Amino acid sequence: MKRNAITVSPEEMTRQQAFSEEVRMMPGRPESYYVVTYGCQMNAHDSEKLAGMLENMGMKAAENREDADFVIFNTCCVRDNAERRALGNITWLKEVRKKNPGLIIAVCGCMIQEPGMAEKILKQYRFVNLAFGTSNLYQFPELLYKTLNSDHATVVVDNEDVIPEGLPILRARKESAYVTIMYGCNNFCSFCIVPYVRGRERSRDLSVILRETEGLMADGVQEIMLLGQNVNSYGKDLSDEVSFSLLLKELDRMGIPRIRFMTSHPKDLSDELIETMAGSRHILPQFHLPVQSGSNPILEKMNRHYTREQYLDRVQKLRNAVPGIGLSTDIIVGFPGETEEDFRQTLDLVREVGYDSAFTFIYSPRVGTRAAILPEQIEEAVSTERIKKLIDLQEKLQQKTLSRFVGTEEEVLAEGFSRRSNKAVSGKGTHGVSVTVPGNTEDIGRIIRCRITGLKNNTLTAERI
Ligand code: SAH
Ligand code: SF4
Ligand code: F3S
Repeated sequence: MKRNAITVSPEEMTRQQAFSEEVRMMPGRPESYYVVTYGCQMNAHDSEKLAGMLENMGMKAAENREDADFVIFNTCCVRDNAERRALGNITWLKEVRKKNPGLIIAVCGCMIQEPGMAEKILKQYRFVNLAFGTSNLYQFPELLYKTLNSDHATVVVDNEDVIPEGLPILRARKESAYVTIMYGCNNFCSFCIVPYVRGRERSRDLSVILRETEGLMADGVQEIMLLGQNVNSYGKDLSDEVSFSLLLKELDRMGIPRIRFMTSHPKDLSDELIETMAGSRHILPQFHLPVQSGSNPILEKMNRHYTREQYLDRVQKLRNAVPGIGLSTDIIVGFPGETEEDFRQTLDLVREVGYDSAFTFIYSPRVGTRAAILPEQIEEAVSTERIKKLIDLQEKLQQKTLSRFVGTEEEVLAEGFSRRSNKAVSGKGTHGVSVTVPGNTEDIGRIIRCRITGLKNNTLTAERI
C-alpha cells in the first residue's frame, strides 16, 4: 500500500452518528434547513451529503432560504467572483435573521479552507454561527451539536487529507448520481487554488466505488458521473495495478446504462484510457478536456505539463478511437503575460478543435498561488475584450459542430420538462449535448431514443423513435 490518506475510522463515523442522534433529540433545534451551493460538481455532491446528514438529524428541507431555521453555505473560491458572491449572500442573511432571530447560519466548503478565512469569519462575519473546512465535512453532526450548545461561533478548519466513507447522501436527482472516485489534486496549476483547499490526491478504494454503484443500480439510477479533480490519476496512490482504466472497465462490466466522468487532465490522458473508452459499452462518447490556453509559453507558465501539439494529438486520438465524440473544454483568458499573439493561439486552437461547448473564464488571481505574484498581470479591460471575442467565436463554431448531430439517432436521459414547453422534456444526449424531445412526466428519469431534427440556440431538438 502506498496510501498516505486516512479513511475515517468506523468508530469515528459511529461517534458522529451519535451526535446526529443528540441533535435530533435536542429540544428547540432547527426544524428546517436550506443548503446554498456554489462551485463545481464536487461541492454539489458535498451538499448532497450535508442534506443527508441534516435529514438524519431530523430536519426537513425548506422551500426558500428565508423560511429555513438553518442555512448552510457550501462555498467556492476558485475565482474572486465566486467568493464575493458567497460573502455577499451570507451578509444578506444577516438581515433575514432580524425577522427570524433563531436562524442558525453556517459556512463550509473551499472558501473556509483558504488561509486566514477562519479568522476573517470570526472577526468580520460575527453573525456566522458555524464554519468548517472541506476536510471537516464528516464531523458536521458533532460541530452542529457544539454550535447549538454554545453562545460562541464554532470555527474548525483542519488540513488532514481524510477519506470519509459511509456518509448519508440525499441525492438531488433520481436518475443520475455523482460518485466521488478521488479527492484532492496534486497538479498545482499555477493559477489554481484547488490543491490548497482540497488537499492532496487520494483515491477511494475500488471495491467501495463498485459497491456504491451496485447500490445505485439497485435503486434504478441510469447514469453515474464519476468525480475527481483529475480522474486520470485515479489509483496512483493505491497500488500499481489500480488505474482509472481498470475502474472504468469494472464499472462498464456491471452494466449501469451510462458512465460519465470529470475532470481529465490532458497530461494524464493515456492511450489505455482511450482504448478503454473505445471498447466499452456504457462509457458515453463525450470528453471534458480543459485546455486552458492554446499558447505554449502560457501553458508552461500555467504549469500544465503539455504543449498545444500534445493536446491536439490527444484530441485526434480520441476522435479516431471514438468517432463523433463530444468534446468540451475550459479556457482562461488574461493569464499574466498573455500577449495578443498568445491569445490568437487560443482562438486558433478553438477553431482547430471545434468544441461542442467551452467554459470560458477571465483569469482571477488567487492569494497563495504562484501566478498571483507573476509580473505582467493583464488589465481587466483587455481580458474582457478577449473573453468577448472568444465567446463570439465559440458560439459561431458551435452552431457548426452541433449541426453534425442533425439527422442522427441519440439516446437522451430526460432530466425534466423543457424550459419552453410542458409537452417536451430535455436532458443530455450520449455526446453530452442538451436535447429537447416531446414527452411527459413519465419520461423524466428515463432514457428516450430519438432522432435529432434541428438545432435552436445550441440545444438540439428531436423526435421520438
Ligand atoms: N480540476 C479541474 C477543475 C478545476 S476548476 C480541472 O483541472 O480542469 C475549473 C476551471 O476553473 C479550470 O479548468 C479553470 O479553467 C478555471 N479556473 C481555475 N482557477 C482559475 C483562476 N484563478 N482564474 C480563472 N479561472 C480559473
Ligand atoms: Fe486546479 Fe489544475 Fe488541479 Fe485542475 S488540475 S484542480 S486546474 S490545480
Ligand atoms: Fe470546486 Fe470551487 Fe472548490 S471549483 S473544488 S468548489 S474551489
